[in-house]
Amino acid sequence: MQEKEQPTGGPHFVGKKDELIEAKRSFRTLEGRDLLIVHHQGVFYAMDSYCYHAAGMLQNGDIEELDGKMCIICPKHKYKITLAEGEAIYKGTNPLVKPSVPIWYSKGVKQRVHTVTETNGDVYVKLSEDKSWIESDFYQGEKGKVERAKVEAAEKKKT
Ligand code: FES
Repeated sequence: MQEKEQPTGGPHFVGKKDELIEAKRSFRTLEGRDLLIVHHQGVFYAMDSYCYHAAGMLQNGDIEELDGKMCIICPKHKYKITLAEGEAIYKGTNPLVKPSVPIWYSKGVKQRVHTVTETNGDVYVKLSEDKSWIESDFYQGEKGKVERAKVEAAEKKKT
């Protein structure tokens, strides 16, 4: 029997639920796109694996709840990205407001997130079909790959 071709965009099988839970963070490439799959506190998330800012490896980032949202903190420059929406958030003060108390602000969605589903212990990821440009798209494209290679080479030189 000929295997059915997976439709573009998935859903793609990415692993057994138990294995992904144990791994906590898993790297997968689907349709040429590099993804990070995270399991945290009972929830699966999937997002582009390279940080939108300068291609930091998000799989090495800490996860914290900030402003009531689960966020991954890029290990490179500590930018905070919500796991569910890919929204970049930061804490700042508004000089026009006195007393100036730091509060959370949003830069909007910067990291593309994808949909994770689970059926009978199998986990699937469907790639985002959002047609708008999201900044993390850059590091998934050809130019982004060249930039990533430069960054990796520079980092290797430092060590
Ligand atoms: S590369 Fe992620 S914060 Fe700069």
